Amino acid sequence: MPAIEIEGVTTIFGPRPRRALAAWRAGAGKAELLAGGHVLALADVSLSVGAGEFFAVMGLSGSGKSTLIRHVNRLVEPTEGRIRVDGVDVAGLDRRGLEAFRRGRVAMVFQHFGLLPHRTVLENAAYGLEIRGEARAAREAVTRDWLGRVGLSGYEDRLPRALSGGMRQRVGLARALAVGTPVLLMDEPFSALDPLTRVELQDELAALARAHSRTILFVTHDLDEAARLADRIAILRDGAVVQVGTPADILERPADDHVRAFVGAVSRARGQPPSRPFASPSAG
Ligand SMILES: Nc1ncnc2c1ncn2[C@@H]1O[C@H](COP(=O)(O)OP(=O)(O)O)[C@@H](O)[C@H]1O
Ligand SMILES: [Mg+2]
Repeated sequence: MPAIEIEGVTTIFGPRPRRALAAWRAGAGKAELLAGGHVLALADVSLSVGAGEFFAVMGLSGSGKSTLIRHVNRLVEPTEGRIRVDGVDVAGLDRRGLEAFRRGRVAMVFQHFGLLPHRTVLENAAYGLEIRGEARAAREAVTRDWLGRVGLSGYEDRLPRALSGGMRQRVGLARALAVGTPVLLMDEPFSALDPLTRVELQDELAALARAHSRTILFVTHDLDEAARLADRIAILRDGAVVQVGTPADILERPADDHVRAFVGAVSRARGQPPSRPFASPSAG
């Protein structure tokens, strides 16, 4: 059973989403929807993420990445379609079921860290366990352990403002990992960091994800980051999935000009010529 299944999801923001959906099905374009105050954020998206898979969603700003990931813990509800996590239809959860689901099944890491400014590193990292009702001693023991694994031993009593961006996001990571949910949602967690810190945290996340077999849905606008981390990548354009594949599939066999443009930009940034689909290693 896949860990996350997204099936035929179309999401429209605005005053009358269902009516706008009917108009879109009947052929109205994005501009027409917009004239009525509606934004087509996701268009017929279907994706399946396996248990333990590191799955990246990428696309330009406004392509629907955040909207998509927020469906998984039901911060956003689709206008049409279905989202299942470990077989559970998230739309079918009642209020208490949803609370339990958010505490026990999925954790989220945010781009701007989402730390509470007046709480120490330890208190911030223990927050998920605290709202789940874990006793102080137990949650602090687990949290200290995770802070150690993300390189923050010795910083437990600091406040977030005394930390660099990279260290703040280590706290965000520890907080998400400490609750022990099988699914982690990460929305551009490293975008606000400088390039060296970003690569360092990417490597650590990759190692932690492997060691603790979490299912990770990771949003980025950076194909280089997606290619370093992900087992598979989905590319969104204007709310629609244009390609799903392994990093090698995407880099070597881009589905269209839009994907090819991304790939070309990454290759140039790495100082390499764009990869040629039919190039083979020279015979020994
Ligand atoms: N709550 C909202 N109300 C109206 N429009 C929204 C809302 N959230 C997102 N959008 C619009 O949906 C589209 C996709 O946004 P988003 O998912 O944030 O893209 P990304 O994360 O890829 O930058 C954008 O056009 C954005 O302006
Ligand atoms: Mg976003």
